[in-house]
Amino acid sequence: MEKDSKRMLFFLLLAGICSPTTEEQWKASVVKSIEALVDSCVVLPCTFTYPGSILPTSRLRGIWHRKDNWDDIFYHEDSTKVMDSFKGRTKLLGDLGQKNCTLEIDEVKDHDNGPFCFRIELVQKDTNRTKEKFSFVEECTEVIMRQVPPKPELFQANTAVQGKPYAVTCSVHHTCPSHVPVFTWSRGSEDDVILIQKPIVSGIWETQSIMVFTPEENDDHTEITCSVTFNGGQKSDRSIQLNVKRTANTYHLILPVAVAIGTAVIFGIICIAMMKKYKNRIAELQSREGSMFNRLSRMSGRF
Ligand SMILES: *[C@@H]1O[C@H](CO)[C@@H](O)[C@H](O)[C@H]1NC(C)=O
Repeated sequence: MEKDSKRMLFFLLLAGICSPTTEEQWKASVVKSIEALVDSCVVLPCTFTYPGSILPTSRLRGIWHRKDNWDDIFYHEDSTKVMDSFKGRTKLLGDLGQKNCTLEIDEVKDHDNGPFCFRIELVQKDTNRTKEKFSFVEECTEVIMRQVPPKPELFQANTAVQGKPYAVTCSVHHTCPSHVPVFTWSRGSEDDVILIQKPIVSGIWETQSIMVFTPEENDDHTEITCSVTFNGGQKSDRSIQLNVKRTANTYHLILPVAVAIGTAVIFGIICIAMMKKYKNRIAELQSREGSMFNRLSRMSGRF
C-alpha cells in the first residue's frame, strides 16, 4: 500500500518533469496599445504559444485580423486575402518557428487603429490543410495615431570652452526601427556625428545623434539646431544657445610686458652711456683742476 503510493508519487513527479511542452496553452503576448506616427512605420511586438509539439515555420500559418471582424485581414502569407487598404503595407518580422509573430505596418494611415489580433493555424504536412487554429482575440494591439512627430530632446555636455571638443546630443523616440529617423545639424559636418540606436521598451526605440565639434570665440551666443526627419517625411527640430567660455588670451599681456622690458633696456643703455660720458668728463675736469692747482702752486712758489 505504502509502496504503491510512493510509486504513484514518483510517476507524477516524472510526468511533471518530462511534459512541460505538452502543458503549453494557446497564449499570445502583445503590447496592448502603441503610438504610431502617421506616414511612418510601426512594429507590433508579438509572441505566442500553442499546445502540442513544436512545429517548424513551414507548418505554421500566421494571420493578423481585425478584432471585431475576422474577415478584415491585415496580414496573410497569401496577399490576395489581405484587405485592399493594407495590401503591400504589412509584413511578418517574427519567425513563426521561434513563436514570434511580430508584425510591421508601413506608411501608417490615419485609420490604421485596429485593434490588430493574431491568429495561428497549424497546417498538415502534406495536404497543407488547416489542422487546428486559434485567434488570440483577448490579446490584441490598438494603434493610437500621432499626427505630428515628437520634438527631439537636446542635451549639452558641461561647459563649452573655446578651442576644446564639445558634444551636443539630439535624441528622439520612434516606432520604426527599419527606417530610423535622419538627423541634420545646423553646424559641423557628418563626420563629426555619432549615431546610436537602442530599444527602450517593447515597440519603442530611441535614436541619438551626438555632434562633436570645436567651438570658437565667435560661436558664443549662437544657436545650434538639430532637425529630425522621420520615416515618411514628417519633420521636427529643436535649438539651443551655445555659451562658449573663452580661454585666457595671453596676447594682450605679451605686448605691454615687451614694451616695458624694451623701455627698461633702452633706458639702461642710455644710463650707462651717459654715466660713461660723465665719468670721462669728471675725470677730464679733475685732471684740468689738478693741472690748474699745479700751475697755481707753481705761481705761488714764485711769490
Ligand atoms: C521577435 O522578432 C522581432 C523581429 O525580428 C525581434 O525584434 C524580437 O526581438 C523578437 N522577439 C523575441 C521575444 O524574440
